Amino acid sequence: MALLRQKNITFILIYVVALFMIFTFKSAIGIGETLNIVDFGANPNGETDSTNEILTTWARACNSTTPTTIYVPIGRFLVGGRVVFKGRCNNKGITVIIDGTLVANYNYNFIGNEGSWLLFDDVEGVSIIGNGILDGQGTSLWDCKKYGKSCPIGATNLRFANSNNIVINGITSLNSQMFHIVIDRCNNVKVQGIKVTAAGNSPNTDGIHVQLSSSVTILSSNIATGDDCISIGPGTTNLWIENIACGPGHGISVGSLGREFEEFGVQNVTVKTVKFIGTENGVRIKSWGRPSNGFARNIIFQHATMVNVQNPIVIDQNYCPNEKDCPGQASGVKISNIIFQDIHGSSATEVAVKLNCSPINPCTGISLEDVMLTYKNQNAESLCNHAGGITSGVVQPNNCF
Ligand SMILES: *[C@@H]1O[C@H](CO)[C@@H](O)[C@H](O)[C@H]1NC(C)=O
Ligand SMILES: *[C@@H]1O[C@H](CO)[C@@H](O)[C@H](O)[C@H]1NC(C)=O
Repeated sequence: MALLRQKNITFILIYVVALFMIFTFKSAIGIGETLNIVDFGANPNGETDSTNEILTTWARACNSTTPTTIYVPIGRFLVGGRVVFKGRCNNKGITVIIDGTLVANYNYNFIGNEGSWLLFDDVEGVSIIGNGILDGQGTSLWDCKKYGKSCPIGATNLRFANSNNIVINGITSLNSQMFHIVIDRCNNVKVQGIKVTAAGNSPNTDGIHVQLSSSVTILSSNIATGDDCISIGPGTTNLWIENIACGPGHGISVGSLGREFEEFGVQNVTVKTVKFIGTENGVRIKSWGRPSNGFARNIIFQHATMVNVQNPIVIDQNYCPNEKDCPGQASGVKISNIIFQDIHGSSATEVAVKLNCSPINPCTGISLEDVMLTYKNQNAESLCNHAGGITSGVVQPNNCF
């Protein structure tokens, strides 16, 4: 009898714990009401435009006061126009699960001047998860640009603006016309396990661009594109990047900074455990050679592997594309407290470390620790201009402070 009672109590306990787990799991992944876009008229045939149906689904989710899931099932959904997922919502827990593919119009004129294709603006607590694909069909625009015709500038595949508590997990961004993913004026964003794919010669197709944002984390992602793998713009603070594979592309870049005179600085950035394969740059800080009150400080690049990278470590404060609006000027951007730690591998050019700072604003507090870079299995070279700092551990090429 006593045993039976004990058994009953155990069962009740298990039951209660299981219920509790189901509820926490549900709210954790945002399942309350699920809105399947097909039920709102979206068509998975890849040809019928589903822009309006997706907007209607969003309006319903945004207006709801309980956590809501928007579901994009397997299939190809043409989203020909620009979509603005606009806040402010009653809902602070919207999960978009994407198993299918959202595909932009092949004719780049539909969104080419709209800035973004899929824009989340002024939202809170939005998660985009799943194994689905955002296909910007950018190849037609890249071709247009290649042949120097007059073409629109192009749209970003996915942009979050003025938003907080955002998750982007698992999805693939394919062939964006321009930047793939932009985080702009956001706070607390977690990007994890995503994939970016575009041709190595595609113009301005940066993988992830962050600006004017704080507490952004980018983890375990694979980025192959034609421009920067990750670019870190003005006003970025408390950024954490870890476990990334880059290539092809232009590497991870802080900048370009100092394009404007009045500019927010970049500070507290960690870039950790990144593998660069055949990229143009590895880790880089770049500023325009012109007056600015911007800055970059407290940045650490740690545990990077370079495989045949043209410029593995770069600071370039003399950026002046087309020699316009900057010749003869010097960068006002102040670069300080930058650590390069445990960076090893191969350079595709003789100069593996290039620290080219501003003549009126020398870099200070640069630290090279355990840097081992070779060129054709031989010693590589380093170049310094107006750069001051220290080395520790084995540093090869020899430092040039
Ligand atoms: C928003 O929700 C309220 C209350 O449920 C409802 O009355 C209203 O029609 C909804 N508005 C839209 C645009 O769905
Ligand atoms: C730097 O950023 C990290 C997140 O990337 C954060 O945990 C840490 O508190 C920040 N440090 C300072 C001094 O703000």
